[in-house]
Amino acid sequence: MQLTRTIAETWDLLDAARAQGQRVGLVPTMGFLHAGHASLIEAAAADNDVILTTIFVNPLQFAADEDLSDYPRDLDRDLEICRAAGATIVLAPSVDEMYPQPIVTTVSVDELSQGMEGAQRPTHFDGVSTVVAKLFNIGGRCRAYFGEKDFQQLALVRRMASDLSFPVEIVGCPIVREDNGLAMSSRNTYLSPDQRSAAGVLNRSLRSAVALAEAGERDAHVVRQHVLDMIAAEPLVSVPDYVAIVDAATLEPLETLRGDVRIILAAQVGRPRLLDNIGVSLAP
Ligand code: PAF
Repeated sequence: MQLTRTIAETWDLLDAARAQGQRVGLVPTMGFLHAGHASLIEAAAADNDVILTTIFVNPLQFAADEDLSDYPRDLDRDLEICRAAGATIVLAPSVDEMYPQPIVTTVSVDELSQGMEGAQRPTHFDGVSTVVAKLFNIGGRCRAYFGEKDFQQLALVRRMASDLSFPVEIVGCPIVREDNGLAMSSRNTYLSPDQRSAAGVLNRSLRSAVALAEAGERDAHVVRQHVLDMIAAEPLVSVPDYVAIVDAATLEPLETLRGDVRIILAAQVGRPRLLDNIGVSLAP
């Protein structure tokens, strides 16, 4: 496994690999890796020959009042996880390498970035789409692996790759969870043991909502209220910022559950906001 610090060095390695007919897998991350990231690298390693993992805490996607300066970082540990999961190149660039001058060219994926996380964090998704566009230009022709935990991000990245003809096939990968169902996230490190255990209600409420839908409930208001009621019973979890019931492909809010449905929520538990979602396929 090679650690690179510059874009030019990474291009050279990837060009050489592609010249030998090797296929490239790309796993963009912000580091502080966990089993969820490892599963993305493993999925990339199963389908490709060269696996580029990027580790970059992207300032553009943090608002001024968010946790950029103390976002958890541990490069040595990350490199061990990358190696064990099958990464072959790790690009860990500096902020100056990624943004040598104030950036005036940005990418915005209009509709998909409006609701849910976009409504809570108005500048977040432009920061994500801009850095992912840069990472796609670094990765070149490749398959890129993203977790379904950030479901809105995944939809937005898919649309951006298609709209802008990036030579990148987007692969969505299932959420990896802790024993109590809590979706893995680098920000889980901010949770106390009690909060971590309480946060299990997020996934329980989503699974219970799916059971309700599978038992025949089609009214989105009823299903949404069911999720809110379950979460309200857990005092360490705040009232969710949103519980959205949407079409899985378009992210359009649904009144009536039909077809491929995704239930997506975000709630604060102590310091971090935690995200989770679940899919259910119903008759159209
Ligand atoms: O999901 C993340 O970790 C980040 O949003 C990403 C895709 C690496 C862009 O910084």
